[in-house]
Amino acid sequence: MTASPRSGGERPTPTILGVGAAVPSQLITNADLVARLDTSDEWIVRRTGIRERRHLRETETLAEIAAAACTDAIIDAGCSAAGVDHLIVATITPDRLTPGLAPAVAARIGAPSAGVLDINAACCGFLYGLDQAAALIESGRARSVLVCGAEALSRITDHEDRATAVLFGDGAGAVLVGPGARGRGIGSFVFGYDDTLADTLYAEREGPRLRMAGQQVYRHAVHRMTEAAQEVLAANGVSAEEVDYFVAHQANARIVSAVADALGVPHEKVSFNVEWTANTSAASIPLALAAAQREGHLQPGSLVAMVAFGAGFVWAAGLAAWKDNMTETTRSS
Ligand code: UT7
Repeated sequence: MTASPRSGGERPTPTILGVGAAVPSQLITNADLVARLDTSDEWIVRRTGIRERRHLRETETLAEIAAAACTDAIIDAGCSAAGVDHLIVATITPDRLTPGLAPAVAARIGAPSAGVLDINAACCGFLYGLDQAAALIESGRARSVLVCGAEALSRITDHEDRATAVLFGDGAGAVLVGPGARGRGIGSFVFGYDDTLADTLYAEREGPRLRMAGQQVYRHAVHRMTEAAQEVLAANGVSAEEVDYFVAHQANARIVSAVADALGVPHEKVSFNVEWTANTSAASIPLALAAAQREGHLQPGSLVAMVAFGAGFVWAAGLAAWKDNMTETTRSS
């Protein structure tokens, strides 16, 4: 059962305790696409930075992949699935229109008393989920919240359209959020939207296929993510130099590069995970966080800035001190 609201005392500091990732086994390289589309490895790499992506097989479900990512995050946190109070799954591509993905994922990981909820904020879904998780922990209404970004974009991609077929991939990433012992934890977020440009990036309900006015989306993505990142740094009283690692939504390496340059963040502190995943919408940021930890870019206490932009248009940015549940002793040992 979920904890009841705290009546008083010090508010818990919400913190990312663990991270996990999972991708389908089917690897689609640029060479695979070149074999059936009028494109080239050179074009894809130069214009997007993407070298490969994963696609679900007909027999696979997104719930399986999402559950694997969640289990990975729980193990990384050293916690148990049975103690998860809420599971928030951000996705635009659940296995079915209804039910959502969260109940199937919770059942698979063994979280029998979790509240289960899907959210759709396109590429920003994970950051919305992270903000909600932080609020639940901070208020004392929960002590363990899983946030998962999971997508099967291959199911809504027009595989005959070279302008979009090369861009999207499938996968899932997750973080476990709980109370931290000390430190900054998960800071405040900023959010924004512009519905007047909804027709530049969308998929209709019937026979859904992602349609995108690429250049227009590109320009707005750079502008909005730069602005949102600047706002979130200011809101948290942090300078760009203090950021240890920067994860922007992994849609295109050129976009990530332009935003990092505008912020003055050197590229060695920036995730370019899009190379291996392509654009996985809500899964892109947690997949990049998992890769960053694996590659040694994130240590307990590292300050991570995250920013996303996608269909809506919707944008979001947040700041978190990585695994800030560690004590000074643990951290320095
Ligand atoms: O997740 C939500 C956020 N999404 C994004 O942020 C994506 C934003 N947009 C982009 O990343 C880029 O606009 C794209 C990667 C989609 C496209 O790159 P671009 O540099 O803007 O290319 P373009 O659309 O202007 O196309 C340039 C040329 C065109 O040919 P012409 O008209 O110059 O002869 C296209 O037909 O490249 C052609 N083209 C391709 N050529 C080879 C488009 N797709 C391909 C392809 N292979 N796959």
